[in-house]
Amino acid sequence: MEMLSDEIKSEIQCGTGACPTRRCAILEALEIVQRRHGWVSDERLKAVADFLNLTVEEVDGVATFYNRIFRRPVGRHVILVCDSVSCWIMGFENILVHITKRLGIGFGETTPDGRFTLLPIQCLGACEQAPAIMIDGTLHGDLTPDKIDEILKGYE
Ligand code: FES
Repeated sequence: MEMLSDEIKSEIQCGTGACPTRRCAILEALEIVQRRHGWVSDERLKAVADFLNLTVEEVDGVATFYNRIFRRPVGRHVILVCDSVSCWIMGFENILVHITKRLGIGFGETTPDGRFTLLPIQCLGACEQAPAIMIDGTLHGDLTPDKIDEILKGYE
């Protein structure tokens, strides 16, 4: 089976055109694949490497470095919980306990209904809003348990 459709290939061609470095081009290509398929399988990673004329190791190195590239299937929404110093100080533990109780899953897991996947991430760059999480690329800061309940309602 063809792992990259013609549409994805042309999107990669356009998307990576302006990339100043090889690393940038790889990340851009992987993000395009992920937007279409939700995650990047080994087969698709190899197809990206072939298409960009790079080795699988080079592409895999970038995919592994950036934890926003998902190498396993994920739920409809991905919650990234900031697991770094400012968030630790401002109540990370409470936030994590609340989310895990609410959803019944821990880090690296997906709810049985496929609604959420929970993953840790290093500093989201929003320390002044700690504790913070990101859901599908949207930042949510200054979290409290009540605020989390409200936020989660917005994701079906
Ligand atoms: S430490 Fe959490 S956003 Fe920076």
